[in-house]
Amino acid sequence: MKSKINDIKNSIGSFEINSIDQLEAFRIKFLGSKGLTKELFSELKNVPNEEKKEIGQLLNQLRTDAELKYEDSKKTLIQSQKTANDLDLSRPGESFEIGSHHPLSLVKREIISIFSKIGYIVSEGPEIEDDWHNFSALNFPPEHPARDMQDTFFIEKGEKEIALRTHTSSVQVRVMETSKPPIRTISPGRVYRNEAISARAHCFFHQVEGLYIDKGVSFADLKQTLLYFAQEMFGEKTQIRLRPSYFPFTEPSAEVDVSCTLCNGKGCNVCKYSGWLEILGCGMVDPNVLDSCGIDSSEYTGFAFGMGIERIAQLKYRVTDLRLYSENDIRFLKQFKSGI
Ligand code: DAH
Repeated sequence: MKSKINDIKNSIGSFEINSIDQLEAFRIKFLGSKGLTKELFSELKNVPNEEKKEIGQLLNQLRTDAELKYEDSKKTLIQSQKTANDLDLSRPGESFEIGSHHPLSLVKREIISIFSKIGYIVSEGPEIEDDWHNFSALNFPPEHPARDMQDTFFIEKGEKEIALRTHTSSVQVRVMETSKPPIRTISPGRVYRNEAISARAHCFFHQVEGLYIDKGVSFADLKQTLLYFAQEMFGEKTQIRLRPSYFPFTEPSAEVDVSCTLCNGKGCNVCKYSGWLEILGCGMVDPNVLDSCGIDSSEYTGFAFGMGIERIAQLKYRVTDLRLYSENDIRFLKQFKSGI
C-alpha cells in the first residue's frame, strides 16, 4: 500500500498541466469520483488495523497534494489566459510628447544653410572678448558711445579691458587675423548689451555676422548676396532696399530693408505702412580694419554684414515680444515643432 501511495505521489508531481484539457484530465485521474485517490481510500478497509492510522494520514496528504496542484495550476492557467486576452494588438499606441527645436535654433540653421550653399563656412569666437577684438580693431574711436558703460557689460576695466562681446563683428577680426583671403564666413553667436529688458530689448540676443574678403569684391557683390539671402529666407518675390548708414568698421555702410513679408510691400501695421522691414546692417570693410587685422587693403577688398537672429525669427514667426525667446515657456516653444 505504501509503495502504491508513493507511486501515485510521484505521478502527481510529474503530471504536466499546460492547458485546460490537461487540468481536467488531472482532476479526473487523481481527484475524480473514480480517481486514484478515491480508489486508495476504498482500499483502506483492507489495511491491518495497526497500520490504518499511518496509511490514513499518508492518503490525506496525497489528496491535499493533488488538490493543491490542481488549484495552483488552475490559477496560473486563468492568469495567462487573461494576459493573452488583454493584449489587443489593434489598440492605438500611447502617444508621447516630442520635443521641439527652439525657434532661434531653427532660424540660425536656416541662415547657415542658405549661406553654405554659396560657399560660406561657419566660424565662431568667444563671448568674453577683449577691447581689441570687440572695438579697437573694428575702428571704433576711443570716445565712441558703444564703448560706454551704458552699453557694454565690462568684466575688467583698466589697461586690458575685458567685456562680454556686444556684437559678433568681433569674430570677423579673429578670422582675418588667422586666415588669408579669400575668406567667406558667417559667425552666429550670442551677444550682450547693458539694456533694460522689455518686449523690444534684451540684455542678450543673437547675431549672425558675415564676411567676404577677396581681390575685387564690390558693393554690387554685397547687394546681390543680400538679395539672394532675402529671397531664400522670405520667398522669391522678396525685394530689398539699401539705405545709407554709418558703422565704424565699414565704408560705405548701409542698412537693409526687405519688402514687408506680410503685405508684400503694400503697407500694413507690421511694416507701419511703409512696406519695408529693416533686417540688417552691412557695408564694405573699412581699409583701416583690413590693415589692423593683417590684410593688405591695397590688394584686397571685402564686405561684411550683421543681422539679429531674433529679428529674422520675429519676421518669420510674428513673435513681437523678445522676452519669449528666453523664458522657456513650453506653450510658446511647442509651437515650433519641425521635422527632426
Ligand atoms: N555689428 C553691428 C551691430 O551689432 C551689425 C553690423 C553692421 C555688422 C554692419 C556688420 C556690418 O558686419 O557691416 O549692430
